Amino acid sequence: MPTATHQPRRVLVTGGAGFIGSNLVHRWLANDPTLRIVNLDRMTYAATERNLEGVDPERHQLVVGDICDRALVERLLREHDIDTVVHLAAESHVDRSIDGPAEFVRTNVEGTCALLEATRQVWLAEGRAAALADAGRTVRFHHVSTDEVYGDLEPEDPAFSETTPYAPSSPYSASKAGSDHLVRAWARTFGLPVTISNCSNNYGPRQHAEKLIPTVIRKCLNRQPIPVYGKGSNVRDWLYVDDHADAIWHIVRHGGQAQTYNVGGNNEWSNLDLVHALCRAVAAAVDCPAEELLGLITFVRDRPGHDHRYAIDPRKLEALGWMATRTLDDGLQRTVAHYVALWQAGGLEEPGRLGLGSTSDADAAPSTDDEGVAGCHMLAIRSHLDARGGLAFAEGEADLPFAIARVYYLWDAQPGTIRAEHAHKALRQVYIALHGGCDVVLEDGEASKTVRLERPDQGLYLGPMVWRRLDNFAPNTVLLVLASAGFDEADYFRDKQEFLAAAAARRKA
Ligand SMILES: NC(=O)c1ccc[n+]([C@@H]2O[C@H](COP(=O)([O-])OP(=O)(O)OC[C@H]3O[C@@H](n4cnc5c(N)ncnc54)[C@H](O)[C@@H]3O)[C@@H](O)[C@H]2O)c1
Repeated sequence: MPTATHQPRRVLVTGGAGFIGSNLVHRWLANDPTLRIVNLDRMTYAATERNLEGVDPERHQLVVGDICDRALVERLLREHDIDTVVHLAAESHVDRSIDGPAEFVRTNVEGTCALLEATRQVWLAEGRAAALADAGRTVRFHHVSTDEVYGDLEPEDPAFSETTPYAPSSPYSASKAGSDHLVRAWARTFGLPVTISNCSNNYGPRQHAEKLIPTVIRKCLNRQPIPVYGKGSNVRDWLYVDDHADAIWHIVRHGGQAQTYNVGGNNEWSNLDLVHALCRAVAAAVDCPAEELLGLITFVRDRPGHDHRYAIDPRKLEALGWMATRTLDDGLQRTVAHYVALWQAGGLEEPGRLGLGSTSDADAAPSTDDEGVAGCHMLAIRSHLDARGGLAFAEGEADLPFAIARVYYLWDAQPGTIRAEHAHKALRQVYIALHGGCDVVLEDGEASKTVRLERPDQGLYLGPMVWRRLDNFAPNTVLLVLASAGFDEADYFRDKQEFLAAAAARRKA
């Protein structure tokens, strides 16, 4: 192993209340009893203080703030005598980056720039690096990035190496690629001491509920359909999160100036094989037949642009003395144990991802990939006028994150309003779509919001909220209600005819 070039003493971790950051904080503090960590995290939806339960408060301080706030970062660098920055803070979910790219550019590109500028100011312009050098200390900025910056691979292509050209596919990976370039430029132009790592998909405890592995475990535990995109043939290289934390430690200690290291587990799995392994691991943990959970797997249509394969060649880092240690079986067992315990304590909720009134399917879909990949793509509706000229009939086809138990068709021959009140508490996963137009009044507790659906391809995916009224139908509107499996019909439209009669009566009144 090469001689260490840097010894971290006072570390600023960004994004340390998220998945990888919190695991890194736990592991680094446990491995080095002299280390102190200041953890700057904006506490976005992806973070939780629960991730930091059990860390030594004497050696760890959480600062709630934004990496874009350069003055704050400069103050932290000065006040805490920081010699090492480990930069993980990011918007990290591909689906969300498709829905709203601007936030990704802000945090991942502008935020990285603000951190680099703050570090340059304090370490170089104010001479702190030189002062630390007098005391025998060095400084280092480590940037944590992703293998997604390289684009994707065909089945026979060699794995990504550090010299593979960048070809990002999504706003997420493009923003990470941009941040990597900034870090390299600050090393080259200003002489900032930096290292960079590009890692494959991580798994392990403390990951946000929207990501693939927690989603599959939750679906298994709740006996809900498990969505697998396409044929489940997308291939990812999986690394246990502690191995990633160790790799970063190793690079920070031993890595060369401005060097990039690919981090991976030599552990390629198709999504389908991974889901199978997870079903078996959950079955073993809760003592149920694996077949019962395997039977929940539901194939749904793939999203366009879904990167097919990522694979990492980690030989450069291995030559530096690091190697992944955790096998997938062992890592999944630990991961499942964590989420089962959380579930038993009532802490493994459905991710609250749906904004009231959102009509975006990308927003609605669960992630089927780490760092997020596919959204649900829907919806083909064919509608016909029937013999009575006013009633419409529709056939729906939708790729949904659940098996469809029922499709209801409702209609209104005349312009007007159907006022339907469905305060159905058990309603969980429902997609409604229509041909024509109508206002959907959503209520979530006391809050209420009206969403106008007009285009035939527009739809509304309902999470744990309830639609209360369907107002202002256009002529020949067709409403499809696609209800999830396990949904209690008796508690819903007791009788479609009764519902329609009531609607007609209301209209007359
Ligand atoms: N998860 C993976 O499989 C994976 C793989 C390779 C690389 N990465 C990279 O590792 C890093 C961490 O990923 P993760 O999966 O833990 O992500 P995460 O979404 O779980 O955590 C990100 C953290 O950053 C914080 N954050 C977001 N915006 C911020 C801002 N403006 N200021 C301060 N904090 C902010 C969030 O609150 C959250 O705690 C990211 O840079 C990601 O690109 C992740």
